[in-house]
Amino acid sequence: MLINLNTNDAEANLLYAAFSDRLIGIVPKMGNRHGLIAGATGTGKTVSLQVLAEGFSQMGVPVFMADMKGDLSGVAKAGKLNKFMEKRQAEFGIEYGFQAFPVEFFDVFKEQGNPIRVTVNDLGSQLLSRILELNDTQEGVLTIAFRVSREQNKPMETLDDLRKMLTYVSENAQELSATLGAVSTASVGAIQRALLRLEEEGGDKFLCGKSFNVMDFIKTRDGKGVINILAADKLGNSPLLYSTFLFWLLTALYENLPEVGDAEKPKFVFFFDEAHLLFNDTQKAVLDKIEKIVRLIRSKGVGVYFITQSPIDIPENVLAQLGNKVQHALRAFTPKDQRTIKSVADGFRENPKFKSEEALLELETGEALISFLDEKGAPSMVERAKMLSPAGQIGPITDEERREIITKSSFYEKETPVVKQREVEEKSEPKVNEEPKVEDKNAEILAEVESIVEEMQKKVDEITELKNKITEMRSVTEDATEAKDTIKPYLSEAKKLKDDANGLYKNVVKTVGASTDKSLTSLLKKGEKKYDDAEKALDKLKTEYDAVFKKLSDLEKKEKKENEKKKKWWYNLFISILHIFVPSSKKVLKKKR
Ligand SMILES: Nc1ncnc2c1ncn2[C@@H]1O[C@H](COP(=O)(O)OP(=O)(O)OP(=O)(O)O)[C@@H](O)[C@H]1O
Ligand SMILES: [Mg+2]
Repeated sequence: MLINLNTNDAEANLLYAAFSDRLIGIVPKMGNRHGLIAGATGTGKTVSLQVLAEGFSQMGVPVFMADMKGDLSGVAKAGKLNKFMEKRQAEFGIEYGFQAFPVEFFDVFKEQGNPIRVTVNDLGSQLLSRILELNDTQEGVLTIAFRVSREQNKPMETLDDLRKMLTYVSENAQELSATLGAVSTASVGAIQRALLRLEEEGGDKFLCGKSFNVMDFIKTRDGKGVINILAADKLGNSPLLYSTFLFWLLTALYENLPEVGDAEKPKFVFFFDEAHLLFNDTQKAVLDKIEKIVRLIRSKGVGVYFITQSPIDIPENVLAQLGNKVQHALRAFTPKDQRTIKSVADGFRENPKFKSEEALLELETGEALISFLDEKGAPSMVERAKMLSPAGQIGPITDEERREIITKSSFYEKETPVVKQREVEEKSEPKVNEEPKVEDKNAEILAEVESIVEEMQKKVDEITELKNKITEMRSVTEDATEAKDTIKPYLSEAKKLKDDANGLYKNVVKTVGASTDKSLTSLLKKGEKKYDDAEKALDKLKTEYDAVFKKLSDLEKKEKKENEKKKKWWYNLFISILHIFVPSSKKVLKKKR
């Protein structure tokens, strides 16, 4: 926001964000102490993000933002005064100015911007195994694949290269196991399946060679920091890929940037809109990694700002690190909401002029409770303030305008299919007399998958029951053996069902991948979770089953050994007695031997 300033604050050189009875802004050198913009839907979060991002750019700080709803591209074009702003100008007694900012558009799927890609090798086995949700054994196998690739000087660029390497590792398992550790074909299979899932989420577009240099994000143009906008509407439907991407970005920046100590202003600032997507269903290990990198990257002069509806969407140990807070209105529909409001209010340094808990419910659009870090890094007293407005346009630019920026960019590649009409397609009314809807077909297949999964669950339950019986009967070997034979066909049936479900599921993903219906994708996610749960239950059962029968066969072996011992003992006794009573037998036996 360009404002005609005549206040002392102007000399303080703050990044102006809001107005109460004075201008309130972020202290530039505290810009890397991270931040949070939260509030119920429609309360002004995205616009506040834009105000802050523009402020950083104005200061010469490059910015990266994930645009979840496609409404941030307006920053590339000068805005216009509207009624809302006119009212605020009058209220604040300041004058708004408008301007465009230097922008680069990126898109992992290469539809709404220039591509960002990374090679499998550059992503690394650790990060990859996290997104693939591998267990320790599987991670070990993946590490071996990476090691072999290094040793054989065969870098893996694409998911296909990795797949080939895994096949090689599997085929040479025996040899490799001797020097590098165990390679089980089951683990290789599990990794291959996880890769398939990643690919279905579009991971192959991101992991397809030619690494992007993250330092290319850190650029200024005419003194302004470049605003790098990542089209993340589609990416948001693939939380796994989205969080991997974030990791890679943060990690790569962390590795490439030097320590800066206490700098005058940040080197680079990240904004993650709809941040709850990042933390939803994310594994603990991944969360720890986010927490750690957010903590460490500060010293490299990088600020990370999360935008989300409720602060409780963000894990506590990440939230604790977010120093600059813009809290828009919250709603109190449920007791849980009320608890959230209380905890958000408690998180502020109270201002005697108002009660935060009450204010949170009263705030109007574009108004917020604000607490930024002061010069010393301490949270300032909470202020109830109205946000300034962006100097760029609120809302998206047109496809043509976007296309022009993309094609003029130094990142532009001729083969990039520029600005596919994704949004338009989504919004257009369904045509009459269409083919049977893909969605309907998908829903059908999905229902089938669900019923198979249910059936599988039933089998799993039956097997569990049998297994319990076996455990009870363990001492009676014969009964147990019989039960063991009964259980076997059940297990293989369950496995077959599992494979069927997997096949069908792959089919659904293929068709749904092309669909834009969010409810369908979420339904699919649910189905997938159910399937995963059933699969896990089955795997657990198999391990237990094996353990029980190992015990059983140990028992059998022990018994056999003992019987043999007994037999030997009786035989020796018999021979000794024989020698005593029939001394000549000694000679006869010796001769025989
Ligand atoms: N500071 C502001 N200056 C001018 N207009 C604003 C401001 N804040 C909000 N608005 C208006 O309110 C609308 C909604 O704001 P915004 O899109 O930022 O809400 P949001 O909290 O991001 O919503 P959602 O949760 O749906 O993403 C904007 O389109 C804009 O018209
Ligand atoms: Mg928004």
